[in-house]
Amino acid sequence: MSFAKKNIIDGLTVTPLVTLSKINKAMGTNVIVKLEKNNPGGSIKDRAAAYIIEEAEKKGQLKPGGTIIESSSGNFAISLAMIGAVSGYRVIALVDPKATETNKALMKAYGAEVITVTEKDDTGSYHKTRIKLANELSREIPGSYRPDQCFNVLSSLAHYHSTAKEIHEQTYGQIGGVVCAVSTGGQIGGISEYFNECLPDVKVTCVDAYGSAVFGGPCHAYKIPGVGLGWTPRNINDVSKIDYFYRAKDESSYMAARLLCRHEGILVGVSSGAVLLAALSLSLRIGSHKPVVAILGDSGERYLDTLYNDAWLKDNNIDTGLELHKLQALVETMDSPVESPDIESNYRDDLISILEVPDTTITHFNMLEGRH
Ligand SMILES: Cc1ncc(COP(=O)(O)O)c(C=O)c1O
Repeated sequence: MSFAKKNIIDGLTVTPLVTLSKINKAMGTNVIVKLEKNNPGGSIKDRAAAYIIEEAEKKGQLKPGGTIIESSSGNFAISLAMIGAVSGYRVIALVDPKATETNKALMKAYGAEVITVTEKDDTGSYHKTRIKLANELSREIPGSYRPDQCFNVLSSLAHYHSTAKEIHEQTYGQIGGVVCAVSTGGQIGGISEYFNECLPDVKVTCVDAYGSAVFGGPCHAYKIPGVGLGWTPRNINDVSKIDYFYRAKDESSYMAARLLCRHEGILVGVSSGAVLLAALSLSLRIGSHKPVVAILGDSGERYLDTLYNDAWLKDNNIDTGLELHKLQALVETMDSPVESPDIESNYRDDLISILEVPDTTITHFNMLEGRH
């Protein structure tokens, strides 16, 4: 009989659901949050990282003593660094100037080597320059493997099999909607596929940042870390399976995360502020008879120098007020979501050759065997 897990990444953690008692009472909403900070590496990215690495090991693409090279703004690289520590892989993480000192310190604590890419791409972001450099490095370093979170559709498969199924089981399917943030599309891709098949009445909703172009629109710089991309990732196999998508403003997302911490005692990151606002808005839209599950991607401890630092907020012109009524005002000022079938895609398959994505990366769903 075993009392303990084999190691820190053995088996998936079932993350808790928590009701927002004070906020729901004040706003007439019915939102429950799923705390992904309770994963062993502290974020939702553990799920995709563990799944992708396991598949690479099974296929012999990653061998003992190999090197994992990834472009990540923080959480995915932290998850890979944790896996590297326990499984004996060298991990090289390519981050950009938006990555917090804390995140970089976490990667290094697990033993990862961190490279900061400072050259912007044509969208004003760093995604493309980071990915291109990661691919160059993987060609130079023997025994290396690129999980490639922006192109690898195994990420949405991970969320299909874990996050989405777990929410279904935890709630017995008695929910009105699920809301998550979108960047590489792993979460929303897997969740939208799952709920379309298993519970089609659940409103599958994601939140992007203004300035990101996951569903088209003009690209410009924005401050919310971990959210957004310059194109539609192939992890979203079919945009018509997403019911709504919101866009969140920088300032509102920071403020909402802080209000959640101060009034519910839930310390989470900036993307969770955006998710909270979208979830509250969705709950008001669909009514409070069934709860909306808001997936909160990571812990606020990663953002003590920014999100939870009044001086930083003031420098960035973000309101530091913490009265609960401000949350209501933030939800009211949100733009209406774009609704299916008006959600547009912005796939850029040309990037697969432009950025020299390795052959080991599964870039399309038709490359997957035995998907379900
Ligand atoms: C905290 C957090 N929330 C949400 C996301 C977006 O998830 P996905 O990449 O699966 O679209 C990320 C991605 O890095 C993240 O770090």
